[in-house]
Amino acid sequence: THQWRGVIEEYRDLLEIPEGTPAVTLREGGTPLVHSEWLSGLTGAEVWLKVEGNNPTGSFKDRGMTAAISVAKADGAEAVVCASTGNTSASMAAYAAKAGLKPLVLVPEGKIAAGKMAQAIMHGGQVVMVRGNFDDCLALARQLAWDYPVALVNSVNPVRLEGQKTAAFEIVDFLGDAPDYHLLPVGNAGNISAYWLGYNQYAALGLASRTPVMRGFQAEGAAPLVTGEPFPDPETKATAIRIGNPASWKLAEAARNESGGRFAAVSDDAILAAQRELAARDGVFVEPASAAGIAGLLQELAAGESYAGSTVAITVTGHGLKDTATALEGYAASGQSVVDTVIDADVTAAAEAAG
Ligand code: F0G
Repeated sequence: THQWRGVIEEYRDLLEIPEGTPAVTLREGGTPLVHSEWLSGLTGAEVWLKVEGNNPTGSFKDRGMTAAISVAKADGAEAVVCASTGNTSASMAAYAAKAGLKPLVLVPEGKIAAGKMAQAIMHGGQVVMVRGNFDDCLALARQLAWDYPVALVNSVNPVRLEGQKTAAFEIVDFLGDAPDYHLLPVGNAGNISAYWLGYNQYAALGLASRTPVMRGFQAEGAAPLVTGEPFPDPETKATAIRIGNPASWKLAEAARNESGGRFAAVSDDAILAAQRELAARDGVFVEPASAAGIAGLLQELAAGESYAGSTVAITVTGHGLKDTATALEGYAASGQSVVDTVIDADVTAAAEAAG
């Protein structure tokens, strides 16, 4: 029987990684493209969700990490380092474990969701908390990789984008062509850059007739690509995208300009509301940052933007189980009461409690 082989083996000929590099894989990628009846109904478009939470460590980061760790291992690295808001570190630690490398993780103190922290620790990551934000951690990681024998696997490592662009390939393979629009959350801006690479490569090969308009959404408190200025003190409940000075700034701007797209900011309340609605209406539970693209679509519809008649892909980047605390906080803040009725093991009481 056939099992999906992971993004390197499925797309090796299309990836710029050294020929013959053995794949360190957890069989990432091959994630579902789920049709959203809810958003299709609202827009009059065909809206598809690329559900990246279905990757082995629960986020899209696994696509780039299989590539980065495979290349680092083949190059003879013994240790790898990354700065992270949580998902990159969870992914790096897992792939490093698989490869027998030592993972060193730099994260902003107190700003990492519990699930992600648990992953990094359980996979054997040496977790160092930094008094500072993600941008400080990234500067530190770059310096460490410069001064010490440890390979940097943040998306400033171009091999990461090579792996991540496979998500665009999968979308075109499934839909038969590129969508008209692609919406996604933007933090350090590696992912939007990788999608743009992937879509362009498929168009150049004649595997797609067009490239989509790229629309990237940032949290209001961390929206440097929207304002054009770095945010020295980024702040948002969507901790995954709490980034003030994205490393792939130039590439992301190129993706916007070349695709005729744009960046826009969404509020934390809008992000958490979109997260709840997506879970309740479509059955897809994502982490807060991952709902930024959904919040963006809803915001544009409210402003009178039309997507009618088009095909829209929205990447939901990570799993809801990563950060249950923020999800439940948002739920409570929305005024809905958490169902916590306690009864005796009695059928009448159960029926009454169920309403
Ligand atoms: N969504 C999630 C769930 C993320 O974890 C990230 C980034 C993004 C969106 C934004 O993607 O940075 O490529 O623009 N997380 C990084 C990390 C920064 O360390 O896990 P981006």
